[in-house]
Amino acid sequence: MTPQPLYYDCDTGIDDSMALAYLLASPEIDLVGVGTVSGNTDSAQAARNTLALLQLAGRDDIPVAVGAADPQAGTYAGPVPHIHGHNGIGDITLPDPVQSAVAEHAADLIIRLARAHPGQLRLLTTGPLTNLAEALRREPELPSLVKAVTIMGGAAHQSGNISPVAEANIGNDPEAAAEVLAARWDITLVPLDVTLAHTLEEDDRQLLLDSGRPLPTALGSMLDLYFEFYLSTYGRRCCAIHDPLAAAIAVGGVVPTLAPVVDVVVDTTDGPGRGQTICDLRGQYLNYPPQPGAHCRVVLQTGPDTASCLIQRLLTL
Ligand code: BDR
Ligand code: CA
Repeated sequence: MTPQPLYYDCDTGIDDSMALAYLLASPEIDLVGVGTVSGNTDSAQAARNTLALLQLAGRDDIPVAVGAADPQAGTYAGPVPHIHGHNGIGDITLPDPVQSAVAEHAADLIIRLARAHPGQLRLLTTGPLTNLAEALRREPELPSLVKAVTIMGGAAHQSGNISPVAEANIGNDPEAAAEVLAARWDITLVPLDVTLAHTLEEDDRQLLLDSGRPLPTALGSMLDLYFEFYLSTYGRRCCAIHDPLAAAIAVGGVVPTLAPVVDVVVDTTDGPGRGQTICDLRGQYLNYPPQPGAHCRVVLQTGPDTASCLIQRLLTL
């Protein structure tokens, strides 16, 4: 099987680091570029984190481009040290990267890669959608050049995580998310409904720490802080699997068991609904009949072995 080209856009925090590692461990895809955006940390720090992680895996051949520093409306709200540490990667120290970010905006890297692989390139995003929206503005033909887009973001039936209704990646740039979800491309949305439904536990973290391999060991170390944060969600030290699950679905390592194709719009008003992904799930008792024009597959369930599939692949690095 020929590996499929994939571009990854992220705000390199702890779970983005797991997603990056998962991609590097995936023979199904060829990671042809990474772009960064402000979210868990600012876009420049996210690029430094990405370069350091790639170097740890011996993959500093992969281009990394810094993207948007601020969302479309307003300015970046700042990092979330209680979740991802002051540096985005749980305050662990990695060797300084030898490579630098490439001298182009992440939006231009997306466009360049899409033109280089017409109809083949897959996009995976695990941060705010600012870079993708910018790429759409710079190249309106982008949807016809791209094979598929997988987005970690949103909440369908589930409540949000930065407001009662908004998930962080959508809520931190709702205008960009609205543009990306409205564009005519094949979208798979991986919302909180499914990423919160599976957890990594202390035993999994220990497997990473005991791996004897640099990148899985670093992941095990940075998960220490992340597990502490999730005490407030689950009442025990563990973590949700937001970004690595989106990576696994993008490459086919995890296959959704329930994922209807439905209309999704983003609330961009300034009221309490700002950042909500409004998914039309009214067909749930009729096995989700087709909705003409809908182009967003919303992942609502994956199998019970989801978390162990993720860990097993990370341990192959
Ligand atoms: C998403 O927000 C970020 O904090 C995580 O990295 C993940 O992409 C979860 O809502
Ligand atoms: Ca993220």
